[in-house]
Amino acid sequence: MEIAPCLIDGRLYTGHGETLEVRNPATNAIVGIVPVCSAALATSAADAAVTAFSSWKRTTAAHRAQLLRSVAAGIRTARDAFATTITLECGKPMLEARGEVEYSASFFDAAASAGEMLEGSTIASRIADRRVFAVREPLGATMAITPWNFPLAMIARKTGPALAAGCTQVVKPSEETPLSASLLGKTMLECGIPAGVFNCVTGDPASIAGALLCHAGMRKLSFTGSTEVGRLLARQASDRLMRCALELGGNAPFIVFADADLARAADQLIAAKFRFMGQTCISANRVFVQRGVLPAFIALLESRMDGLLLGDPLQETTRIGPLISDAAVAKVERHVQDAIARGARLRRGGKIATLKGMSQRFFEPTLLEGGTAGMACACEETFGPILTLHEFETEEEVIESANAVAVGLAAYVMTQDADRLWRVVEQLDAGVIGANDGAPSAAEAPFGGFKESGYGKEGGRIGVEEYTRVKYVSMRVRVP
Ligand code: SIN
Repeated sequence: MEIAPCLIDGRLYTGHGETLEVRNPATNAIVGIVPVCSAALATSAADAAVTAFSSWKRTTAAHRAQLLRSVAAGIRTARDAFATTITLECGKPMLEARGEVEYSASFFDAAASAGEMLEGSTIASRIADRRVFAVREPLGATMAITPWNFPLAMIARKTGPALAAGCTQVVKPSEETPLSASLLGKTMLECGIPAGVFNCVTGDPASIAGALLCHAGMRKLSFTGSTEVGRLLARQASDRLMRCALELGGNAPFIVFADADLARAADQLIAAKFRFMGQTCISANRVFVQRGVLPAFIALLESRMDGLLLGDPLQETTRIGPLISDAAVAKVERHVQDAIARGARLRRGGKIATLKGMSQRFFEPTLLEGGTAGMACACEETFGPILTLHEFETEEEVIESANAVAVGLAAYVMTQDADRLWRVVEQLDAGVIGANDGAPSAAEAPFGGFKESGYGKEGGRIGVEEYTRVKYVSMRVRVP
């Protein structure tokens, strides 16, 4: 099997022997091999990013935008190769993997446009012969550590804005899903991204992250992953006072008021809950349904869940593929058992699905009612296809329950009452709100959480600005 290369200083690198196997979670078969890069190699990637920065920062925003748009086009041209790679390495159903490819391309397009529109400001001076300006300039060489659940899109979300702003980047993709990153490296080269501007190193996360975090030239860390790891990285980054963007875990409430369009709310919930089998940071995790409409809402959900076909994620008809690992399956099983032990009623699913020729990582889409705050599936982020319904009475009560967790990444509210919609939106303690929308992700939007879901925004204009620093210029002029 050919080694999928890293990209360091404009060269594809296949290593000197030590490799990492990538397995298909659906079958456990090896689907790729990548080099294990040493800490020294990660350091040379960082050196390359620092060197490349001195010329990349001098290019015009328009030139960078043109290159980024050609990366977007390159991704779209190789849509099938990218989608198949995503499916093989993380088990995402093909239909969704194609969606991820387009989502990724759109990050490069959106960053290109936002980069072209970057602005500073002229500030009214208190002194007659002084002019005051705030000028934006790129931060420098940056690093990104990306997760397995969006092997391509989470790199695009970080790299697009970084490069658009004039920064360079070293990316360390998840060790579970480095193949899409490798393919992106090749696309970057083909599209003419100069040597050292984008670098990708694969291998052991601790040694690569350690080498990059203590590199004197690194100016920013962008990380998507668990709160636990985010905390650890932020501690290390703080030694060098490095700027951080941390997109960490969530535990999204999804609130359905009795006055919602219930059929629409059920569609939105299916999207928010079963996208990639619930393995996204913005997955609905606690579903609150107002008393009175629960039976009708359950019927609507069940009719939609009938269509969630389990199977090989490479098949076009599959909607539910495998979970990423045995540990992920064990967590989902634990959450179901704990909920039942604490009084929840299982309406469907609740166990591993055995499929011919497939691994034991397929879990049936599960519906539980009678959820309560103390259950593990309410206190922790499940990251699996379990939908637990909690009943509530009043607006005040549900807002309190929705906000009663340490994290605050996404939250959803379904109602047809415009006053209530805005009232609730204003009170929800989360960085991403789906207002009658179960799929709020968009490349042009500032994505990021509150509380222990991290800090920093990614995407759109704000996402590009976060890769810049503001320089204040005070200028004296001769005035008559
Ligand atoms: C994530 O799960 O971290 C990202 C979700 C998204 O971009 O929609």
